[in-house]
Amino acid sequence: MIQRVKIAPSILSADFSKLGKEISDLDKTNCDYIHIDVMDGHFVPNLTIGPDVIKSIRHFTKKKFDVHLMIDPVKKYIPEFANAGSDIITIHQEINENVMDTILLIKKLNKKVGISIKPKTSAKLLEKYLDHIDLILVMTVEPGFGGQSFMHNQLQKISTIKEMIGNRQVELEVDGGINLDTGREAINAGANVLVSGSTIFNSKKYKNIIDDLRKL
Ligand code: DX5
Ligand code: ZN
Repeated sequence: MIQRVKIAPSILSADFSKLGKEISDLDKTNCDYIHIDVMDGHFVPNLTIGPDVIKSIRHFTKKKFDVHLMIDPVKKYIPEFANAGSDIITIHQEINENVMDTILLIKKLNKKVGISIKPKTSAKLLEKYLDHIDLILVMTVEPGFGGQSFMHNQLQKISTIKEMIGNRQVELEVDGGINLDTGREAINAGANVLVSGSTIFNSKKYKNIIDDLRKL
């Protein structure tokens, strides 16, 4: 069977006092990416981690680091995030800087590039980037915190974006409130990558819940 669903555990819900061990534990699972939420207390109302932390956890796994940058300004920090060991670097459409310039900089540094939209942002605004990106990240909660409820009114947007992508090699990732039920809904709407923080880290056995999510 061809695997359709990729899983990206969000370490925002990990135990930060033993982050290396948490990454090693994820390394032993069948997860595809490790999702890292970077927040600046300005673009979103929370502060998390920066490139030095990413660098320090890099050697615990060979899994791809899927770095979600909820920061504005962002462009001047891209080289640092690239050097820290990011594999996919996702920026937000809503930033005040030039999005296309930032996309081109990420590509120049040989990293995969993603673009994310908040729940109130229209899918239409992504059209002009479609031929330049590797991934679209649809937020199904207001970005800032883990453990929020999935916004069902975003499902239509996921389907619209799936159609917009057409036969391009662009992944469609969903982030916020994903569990076994909402994960199934997101997949049915066209997503192929599920980010999940609290559902995975609240489980006793990361491997089992990740396998269950992958089977959706
Ligand atoms: C929210 C972050 C998410 C968050 C998801 O701003 O982008 O990645 O960690 O957490 P859950 O899965 O608990 O909603
Ligand atoms: Zn995220």
